[in-house]
Amino acid sequence: MSTTAVLPNQPLHDLDEWDDFLEGRYKEGKSQEEFRVYDATATPGVAEFYRQNHENMTVDYVLAKEKEYFSLNKGQKTVWEAADFLNTLVDDSDPDTDLTQIEHLLQTSEAMRRDGQPRWMILTGFIHDLGKCLCLYGEPQWGVVGDTFPVGCAWSKDIVFPEYFAKNPDRNVPEYQTKYGIYSPNCGIENVHMSFGHDGYIAEVMKPYLRDESLYMLRFHSFYPWHKHGAYDHLCNDKDRSMLEWVLKFNQYDLYSKGHTKPDLAELKPYYDDLFAEFLPPTLAW
Ligand SMILES: [Fe+2]
Ligand SMILES: [Fe+2]
Repeated sequence: MSTTAVLPNQPLHDLDEWDDFLEGRYKEGKSQEEFRVYDATATPGVAEFYRQNHENMTVDYVLAKEKEYFSLNKGQKTVWEAADFLNTLVDDSDPDTDLTQIEHLLQTSEAMRRDGQPRWMILTGFIHDLGKCLCLYGEPQWGVVGDTFPVGCAWSKDIVFPEYFAKNPDRNVPEYQTKYGIYSPNCGIENVHMSFGHDGYIAEVMKPYLRDESLYMLRFHSFYPWHKHGAYDHLCNDKDRSMLEWVLKFNQYDLYSKGHTKPDLAELKPYYDDLFAEFLPPTLAW
């Protein structure tokens, strides 16, 4: 496998460790009590990762990162180039048994394809985690993955490890600690500043080209407090509520399509070439 610069002293062995944590948390049939036990006994790396995320994810940080990345000035890339770029993200996983980032993406999209989901959704499945390349731009793990949540208003108790918000500087800004904070009732979650990460970034890249259902899947796929726990309904409008079913449909594949069979990239490539060409221009601004 190729090697690349990875930030030192990161709490997770790799970004997939967060995905594995989610899968464990939401395994079908687990009771609330079991979730709590699981959370309490989470690997120390995962807990430390959430501590960093919750302590550092402030309104000022989010606004600065949105300014930096949502202007899409990191150059033009095709989807394949972006996927190859993400594949250079190397961690301490075992190259013989673990799947590459592209293989993970293909597992998600191929599971959708097997179920006869619409082509735009299969495309969404393939691209949904391409924003994890933020790590390769030097962003820390806590600024790339993790459950997302609105900033600038009170944190929901349904955000995992809520106790770690105790040391977030926004705790001392009274305006950010009210139910609506800097927002108005039912303003729509598209108008909310979400904690920064790979979700918001890929949604911005794809915004000019894809339908709302797809953009909601991209932008809110890690917004577990909303789509799994029903939190923040007071910020939602009717559009958000009608999009929720698609985000939930997507989540089933995101959480449960991981397996250990390696998808055959060479065999699948022509199908994806056609799929990308159907919805996207040859290159995109990143
Ligand atoms: Fe993701
Ligand atoms: Fe994912």
